[in-house]
Amino acid sequence: MERKKVIVTGGTGFIGSHTVVSLLEQGFEVVIVDNLINSSLDVLDGIEKIAGSRPDFFELDMQDSTRTAEFFATQTDAVAVIHFAALKAVGESMKKPLMYYRNNLFSMVNLLESMTRHGIFNLIFSSSCTVYGDPDVVPIRESNEVKPALSPYGNTKKVCEDMIQNLGRSEEGFHAISLRYFNPIGAHDSVEIGELPIGVPNNLLPYITQTAAGLREELLVFGGDYDTPDGTAVRDYIHVMDVADAHVKALNRLLSGTQKKRLEVFNLGTGKGSSVLEVIQSFEKMSGCKVPFRIVGRREGDVPEVYAATDLANQELGWQAKRSLDDMTASSWRWECRVRQLEV
Ligand code: UFG
Repeated sequence: MERKKVIVTGGTGFIGSHTVVSLLEQGFEVVIVDNLINSSLDVLDGIEKIAGSRPDFFELDMQDSTRTAEFFATQTDAVAVIHFAALKAVGESMKKPLMYYRNNLFSMVNLLESMTRHGIFNLIFSSSCTVYGDPDVVPIRESNEVKPALSPYGNTKKVCEDMIQNLGRSEEGFHAISLRYFNPIGAHDSVEIGELPIGVPNNLLPYITQTAAGLREELLVFGGDYDTPDGTAVRDYIHVMDVADAHVKALNRLLSGTQKKRLEVFNLGTGKGSSVLEVIQSFEKMSGCKVPFRIVGRREGDVPEVYAATDLANQELGWQAKRSLDDMTASSWRWECRVRQLEV
């Protein structure tokens, strides 16, 4: 049987690369598009080692409308696009808002124009729980209000969802699923691929693993006075392989035409919140390493408590996160050890 071709933008990035592996394992043909500003070509070797085949790769910055249009003109046999390519650092987006709007929004416009021009009518969009802002109630449901974004990054996710929604109304046949990720962490079991932050990490897990590996002196825990059981902020951490599996389920839903709306939105979380201190404890248990940390003031823009209601994704996508927090922290550590060539 002929393999169905899927274009994965940002496919050498953290979540993109794990999704590419899952797609290849499920028999899809994959073409990756990436500008490599936040990832490297070595990721393709890791993907090939795990999946046994190498995806096609095109280096392309999708802000370039001419080159994006030229690329899509060669891909008219693709059945869908999974769009990960975006800038994603909340703090950086506060300092360089226009860079975020230009990159994330121009790319989206160029992508949607090319898709519709060439009749590629199925899209999966990489969204974020950031669109819910500081929620009034947890767990957060997809039907919850989308609040004004706390950062330009968050706003680009909201505006991209709006663009897709508008296009779904105007373009007969266009279908999309937006997946709102909570906090993806961990690495592939093989540790051939994982998260590779450039410079000082912004996110909790890479900061923890780099501190344990001796690259950072201590972890600063931002805020110990939240109204949460231990005073530190609560998030819904989810294993990146569970996130990857959800993309395959979403793709199959699009391709089988079982969608209920032109744009469907699903939360991707475990449904369980963990505090910063619980994550540190899990990491220390699974790695056997101590993480020196100090509780300091809150980080601007952080919300106290965020975790997902997962019933919609469970019922409609037939998907459920399977891996525990201990699985996540253990695999993040094994990946860090591999990158730093440390004994596990
Ligand atoms: N934290 C620390 N110390 C650190 C890093 C993080 O205490 O060095 C804390 C944060 O204050 C927060 C928790 O760990 O309470 C998780 O922080 P992350 O930076 O790992 O993740 P966020 O929840 O802030 O951000 C994530 C994604 C964003 C997305 C956002 C939506 O990284 O892309 O969720 O809420 F926009």
